[in-house]
Amino acid sequence: MRKTMVAGNWKMFKTAGEAAILVQNLEDVAHDCADDAEVVVAPPFTALHSVKTVIALDKPQITLAAQDMFWEEEGAYTGEIAPRMLTDLGVAYVIVGHSERRQYFGESDEVVNCKACAVFAHGMTPIICCGETLETREAGQTPDFIAGQIRCALKGIEETCAVNLVIAYEPIWAIGTGKTATPEMAEKVCKDIRALVEELFGETVSARVRILYGGSVKPENAALFFAQPDIDGALVGGAALSVEGFAPIIKAARK
Ligand code: 13P
Repeated sequence: MRKTMVAGNWKMFKTAGEAAILVQNLEDVAHDCADDAEVVVAPPFTALHSVKTVIALDKPQITLAAQDMFWEEEGAYTGEIAPRMLTDLGVAYVIVGHSERRQYFGESDEVVNCKACAVFAHGMTPIICCGETLETREAGQTPDFIAGQIRCALKGIEETCAVNLVIAYEPIWAIGTGKTATPEMAEKVCKDIRALVEELFGETVSARVRILYGGSVKPENAALFFAQPDIDGALVGGAALSVEGFAPIIKAARK
């Protein structure tokens, strides 16, 4: 019912040429697993065009995502990227509210909401990220904290859009640290997120929204996360930077 999404967030890695080679090398596995996995790659902005060119040339079994976006149509916003610049390149998904953007660039829940609304308004789909710090988890505040992030991120979003939504639960303490949440811990949070989506938009929407886990997903542990009932895929950082790391994670989504 919900197709597993395996998304690679390449963060600030790879030149345009390197990214094009990587996506080319991922095409066979994406093609072989196409019935069970939607493979998504999010290169840096400077590599979107080269990656898009490769995807368009071969059979398009890989979907293009951007790592961020500004919400204004255009204007004097030095360094920012407008929605139309992304749709023009065939971008289908935009990651919004990644914890690194919140942590290093001061993005608030309100900013995340503006971005999510703008992504939908331009016919793309946001991958909205949420996740708690270790301090928040140890204080037993994870459920309230995540619910607060999601409620704010989804303010004003219509049900017709929400049905396509992707949410990524990425506990900050598990990102790039080699520490993962256990599949059971991740499932619990993802289940709570789905219940909140149901409260906000109803059962039909909550049954269709995809919820991903992110945070040190590797070939060895991916299948354990995919086996959880409320986890519909993974947002992968480090392991998505090579074919050796990413291809087995895509294969783990096979039914
Ligand atoms: P790692 O897989 O490197 O922990 O990164 C996860 C992440 O932040 C994906 O967005």
